[in-house]
Amino acid sequence: MKAIMVGFGQVGRSLRTLLQGRAKELGVEVEIEAVVTRRGIMIGDGEEFRKTRDGTAMDALNLIGPDLVIDVSSANYQTGEPSLSLYIEALRRGVHVVTSNKAPLALKFWEIMDTSRRHGGKLGFQATVMSGVPSVNLIRVMPGLKITRIRGILNGTTNYILSKMYQGLSYEEALKEAQELGYAESNPEHDVNGFDAAAKLVILANYGLGSRANINSVHFKGIKELSQERIIALKRQGKKVKLVAEAYGNSLTVEPREIGPEDPLYNIDGVTNALHISSDVQEITVIGPGAGPLNAAFGVFSDIVLMSKGLY
Ligand SMILES: NC(=O)c1ccc[n+]([C@@H]2O[C@H](COP(=O)([O-])OP(=O)(O)OC[C@H]3O[C@@H](n4cnc5c(N)ncnc54)[C@H](OP(=O)(O)O)[C@@H]3O)[C@@H](O)[C@H]2O)c1
Repeated sequence: MKAIMVGFGQVGRSLRTLLQGRAKELGVEVEIEAVVTRRGIMIGDGEEFRKTRDGTAMDALNLIGPDLVIDVSSANYQTGEPSLSLYIEALRRGVHVVTSNKAPLALKFWEIMDTSRRHGGKLGFQATVMSGVPSVNLIRVMPGLKITRIRGILNGTTNYILSKMYQGLSYEEALKEAQELGYAESNPEHDVNGFDAAAKLVILANYGLGSRANINSVHFKGIKELSQERIIALKRQGKKVKLVAEAYGNSLTVEPREIGPEDPLYNIDGVTNALHISSDVQEITVIGPGAGPLNAAFGVFSDIVLMSKGLY
């Protein structure tokens, strides 16, 4: 498969390593024919990005004519661009798209999905939710199941902060610790205000429940207003506060919830994520690391392998 890769940051580099080390043994041939960053286009593959020519991802699509577009570029939540137009154009041409970038799907899920279904280019987006832990692809392997509710802890940064506050740290102390450990960005706004979890919930609700949602459909609230006193008082009652993302019926919410030990999300602490799916047949919980460059790259890698084997 001839591929172009858009973005060559932490996830892109880890993905390159996975492809080089593991694709062949799985019988999968992926040749990276061009890499695109904000700086331009590198024709061919390389450990370091070296610009060969000016241009955008769309230029690389036209130039290379790939079988696969891999998007591991930064998210643009204002417009989804330039990734959104790239996906639509690639899928229209029957080119497959695999992405770890949530923004285009959180904004225009059905426009992208319908284009894929109409024209035959396949779309892999496991890495957009819980990175390499099956979430999207868990739903993918349960055809015919009637999912009734999706509920989870979908943001590791906030879960880490809440876990530390439960142990007695203030919000500021816990956030600082998360930043020092690389779990929170220097600007953590999208994590702590619930936006990141809301974007992931939109993707799961559309795919799993058939919602017609975008990021504006979610009622989301973050953790900044929670006091340590309240968390400690609840602890004495045997409860924890978790930032719970939930899709049920037409309601999509992300908000701090008080939960007890009977809840499958109660023991999910630190940066760990969890997803609980209720359906007409079974209840399932998956637990695992929701972020990390290698984990996200594995989510992309697993999509590429499954796709190239015709498994979707
Ligand atoms: N890191 C994780 O744990 C994780 C987990 C799940 C999902 N993700 C998602 O995966 C994506 C990549 O994450 P990352 O951690 O690898 O980010 P990163 O290290 O910041 O790298 C982002 C890359 O995207 C490129 N880029 C940004 N805008 C672009 C544009 N308009 N056209 C072409 N390239 C562009 C950047 O180019 P320059 O090099 O020129 O700046 C850079 O190479 C993001 O969407 C992120 O939300 C990350």
